[in-house]
Amino acid sequence: MTTTATNKVEIRRGLMGVYFDRTDSCFIDGTIGKLLYRGYDIHELAEKSTFEEVIYLLLNGKLPTRRELDGFDRQLRADRDIPDDVLDIINKVKDGHPMDVLRTAVSALSAYDPEVKDNSEAAIIRKGLRLTAKAPTIVAAHDRIRKGLKPVKPNANLNHAGNFLYMLFGKEPSEDEMHIMDVDFILHAEHGANASAFAARVAASTQTDLHSAVVAGIATLKGPAHGGAAEEVMKMAEEIGQPEKADGYARNILDHGGRVMGFGHRVYKAEDPRARHMRERSHTLGIAKGQPQWFEILTKLQEVMKPYQARGIFVNVDFFAGSVYYLMGIPEDIFISIFALGRIPGWTLNVAEQYRSNILIRPLTDYNGPMDLEYVPISQRR
Ligand code: ACO
Repeated sequence: MTTTATNKVEIRRGLMGVYFDRTDSCFIDGTIGKLLYRGYDIHELAEKSTFEEVIYLLLNGKLPTRRELDGFDRQLRADRDIPDDVLDIINKVKDGHPMDVLRTAVSALSAYDPEVKDNSEAAIIRKGLRLTAKAPTIVAAHDRIRKGLKPVKPNANLNHAGNFLYMLFGKEPSEDEMHIMDVDFILHAEHGANASAFAARVAASTQTDLHSAVVAGIATLKGPAHGGAAEEVMKMAEEIGQPEKADGYARNILDHGGRVMGFGHRVYKAEDPRARHMRERSHTLGIAKGQPQWFEILTKLQEVMKPYQARGIFVNVDFFAGSVYYLMGIPEDIFISIFALGRIPGWTLNVAEQYRSNILIRPLTDYNGPMDLEYVPISQRR
């Protein structure tokens, strides 16, 4: 047996710190916790904008005029229905995890989109907007179907966030709940070359269609190292149960080399700027709902994790988001789906950017195994 002649190549595991393209969509400075969409600060957008306006901004590169936004919003509201066939598919796979159901239903929608094969930028954006409009209908319909309830038809009088909550719960949400959901979607809309956007770009780089790329994005977002953390954080808070037990619980995880969910980020080595907006809501909503203990538990966990800040480990966007969803009565296993609903415009944007100057994304792995082995027929192997 001859061994491999190892080339002296630099391996960047996890593509950490590797730039693979340029973008004018999303700026992140992880050292100071700064995030801009198309040049606009995430704090200003979270405080003053709406999800509809942010989608327009991301996909068109500029803030809309009132007339532009109204026309854009009308189209989004008109595109919310999903075909009965897709509802049937949701029904067939209703016992799956909501992210698996979303992935399957988005994949099925490709068969009903008249522009599925059109990879022009204008068609990609139109398809991305249709998916953005339809995805909440999928998530809400699935949750109701699995509970034995009838899906609720979209309500064109409500904005994107409000309509999602309306379809999920079968009643109009309060202004406050609608606003929280809207801000949450804004915070999750785009985030540069994160793992799911990169997966969508890798798919797009083969010149496949947008639906396939979004399916890759949903599949990649599902993991606990990416979108799954909000659900895990809430499970952890429930297991802890009381604020005074948070310290011992976290220390036990850390002493055994484990990770406290909702902390750490590949890019942010300061606090994730998105976390602030969910922290405030976790606090106020907890008081309003008579359940302040979740925020108190999370605050205690932050205290235990304080020494880790010196290593660049701070709370990320998912840390407080889970408690906010929970307090709104949203089932834990659809927390990731909510992230996906917010992120579809971001995936669309990444795919459009990839196509604009496409090149097949195809890195290398340095071979480190045996070479030129003799093939032994199965009858002679022992
Ligand atoms: N708790 C305790 N220690 C941590 C944590 C954490 N949450 N996160 C990272 N660390 C430690 C690691 O143990 C590692 O220590 P070591 O150098 O002694 O081995 C060091 O920090 C670096 O961690 P890596 O996993 O190498 O960093 P990476 O950039 O690859 O990982 C990740 C980032 C996956 C987010 C990680 O911080 C993590 O697993 N966090 C918990 C899950 C989570 O919250 N995910 C949501 C991410 S945000 C989002 O997608 C919206």
